[in-house]
Amino acid sequence: MGQSITARAHTNIALIKYWGKQNPELIIPYNSSLSMTLDHFYTDTTVRFSTDLTADQISFNGAIADTKTSTQMSQFLDLIRKQAHLPLFAAVETINHVPNAAGLASSASGYAALAAAGSRAAGLELNDRDLSRLARRGSGSATRSIYGGFVEWQRGTNDLDSYAVPVQETVDWDIQMIAIVLNDRQKAIASRAGMANTVATSPYYPAWVETAQAAIPAMKAAIVKKDINLVGQLAEQSAMQMHATTLSAVPPFTYFEPETLQAIKVVQTLRQQGVSCYYTMDAGPNVKVICTSQETPQILAALAPYFSPEQLLVAKPGPGVSYR
Ligand code: PMV
Repeated sequence: MGQSITARAHTNIALIKYWGKQNPELIIPYNSSLSMTLDHFYTDTTVRFSTDLTADQISFNGAIADTKTSTQMSQFLDLIRKQAHLPLFAAVETINHVPNAAGLASSASGYAALAAAGSRAAGLELNDRDLSRLARRGSGSATRSIYGGFVEWQRGTNDLDSYAVPVQETVDWDIQMIAIVLNDRQKAIASRAGMANTVATSPYYPAWVETAQAAIPAMKAAIVKKDINLVGQLAEQSAMQMHATTLSAVPPFTYFEPETLQAIKVVQTLRQQGVSCYYTMDAGPNVKVICTSQETPQILAALAPYFSPEQLLVAKPGPGVSYR
């Protein structure tokens, strides 16, 4: 019986978004992206390879995973088995510490934790770069969750040179994100399908790639300056430029819901009143507000008439992968 290994990985939210794959099988993106790893939302995954098993055994928060999830995770384990020359099935237990199934990206922390625990349980000793490359094969955003703080996923062109690098692992300034959980319904259009449609049909897609690439050095400079306004402005632009590509796809689609606009309006009004706060959103309706801790009480108060306290989750920069 093999060793049982538990790894923890935190989720991340992109400030400059990843949107679109040049190689869908290897998950090589068209553009580089840059994210912040969050402290509060993480996944603990335990993996054990065993001669006793006749199939992979995969559980989520104590219950057997659905067929789609288990198939995806088994395919990911196949990559580890191949690399380690280990022809054994695995028992995988995943606990997601993401409050009330918040509709926040758990695939980022999920595949980063599975890559870390799985590779170690299989006897592989991967460095962070190779761990990032492996996590990338599960979910693009997982590439970045290997590291803490601010992280860049350098797009590269192939399996070897597409991986994340730390930009600022220990964040010694006061940036925060308030996640506004609008609903936890299953996404109508998964990010995978949404990206593929956009790349194939939006006439704006080439402009997206160009502007996203140009935004990376600008964002890095804003982070070095610890300039919340510049970081926020660039993040907001990146998010809205990404969402513009979905509106311009054929047929058009959007992740916006009425409550999304409500949340955005609150942020815009606060800003007009001199509060430094900015919004971003991913492949779902939830809004994340970028701010510093001094502004947080005022922002929470302005959101309170529209959203319950359980819908408002405050997060700070978090750490990279660790083993328990
Ligand atoms: O890794 P995926 O397939 O869940 O895609 C994530 C895409 C966005 O969340 C919309 C942007 C990003 O960079 O995380």
